[in-house]
Amino acid sequence: MFEGFSYELYENAASYIRERVEKTPYLAVVLGTGCGPFAGRMRNCISIPYSDIPGFPVTTNKNHAGLLVAGYIGDRYIICMNGRFHFYEGYSMEELNIPVHVLHVLGVKTLVLTNAAGSCNPDYRPGDVMIIRDHIKLYGGSPMRGPNLEELGPRFFGVYDMYTARLREISRKLGEKAALKVHEGVYMFFPGPQFETASEIRAARILGADAIGMSTVTEALTAAHCGMSLLGLSLITNMATGMEEGNVDGSEVDEVALKAAPAFSSYIETIINHI
Ligand code: HPA
Repeated sequence: MFEGFSYELYENAASYIRERVEKTPYLAVVLGTGCGPFAGRMRNCISIPYSDIPGFPVTTNKNHAGLLVAGYIGDRYIICMNGRFHFYEGYSMEELNIPVHVLHVLGVKTLVLTNAAGSCNPDYRPGDVMIIRDHIKLYGGSPMRGPNLEELGPRFFGVYDMYTARLREISRKLGEKAALKVHEGVYMFFPGPQFETASEIRAARILGADAIGMSTVTEALTAAHCGMSLLGLSLITNMATGMEEGNVDGSEVDEVALKAAPAFSSYIETIINHI
């Protein structure tokens, strides 16, 4: 039986970070595929490799840096996870709660999750952004499976307003003036690393999904567990399988993400200046 993680694991990691940051970060941003350049916009930064943080997982994805970066966006002191952990890398759902619970123990109250996603909404195009209104996760267990640590959050918790309405509204308003087209919709988790079948995408559309991805939902659930405010932003990098002819191509995902990164990073920066 999974015995859970101790509070000390989170506290040890948080105190390692606390000794190195200037002050408690105002918010945290998790940078997804291609969003890494955002970290370059921060000023007076310090970086902490994940591998130095006791108890922290280590990323295996070549496109993810594996660094915590703390610094300023405007006058806001923030912390970025430049590189994230995915279920497809071999982590259990339970292990995927570690980074967000560590950020919570550090004192971070607001979390911004970014990702690259495929679209199953025919009105979206590669290069667009989707503010996550809600998500669908039918696959697998929960990051909160196992013994509950009451210090972190309650055993049973509601997720009705997990993606905070106020943050979505700010992002929608700023989206009207952004260099990219901004939608609001539903993100659906698939475990990967294979892209989905055309039939799975047809099913996802019927279920009400707009964008498809392999990350974000475990972090979102962890944030909900410990009562953090949450914003999720998907960069649409491709039309999901079956929305167009042929296979989804991983290198196309990376290319579109790289091309859209400056405008996406600028949009994220504007949002942070307003929350
Ligand atoms: N499916 C799943 N994850 C993704 C996709 C996709 O089409 N594009 C980018 N991440």
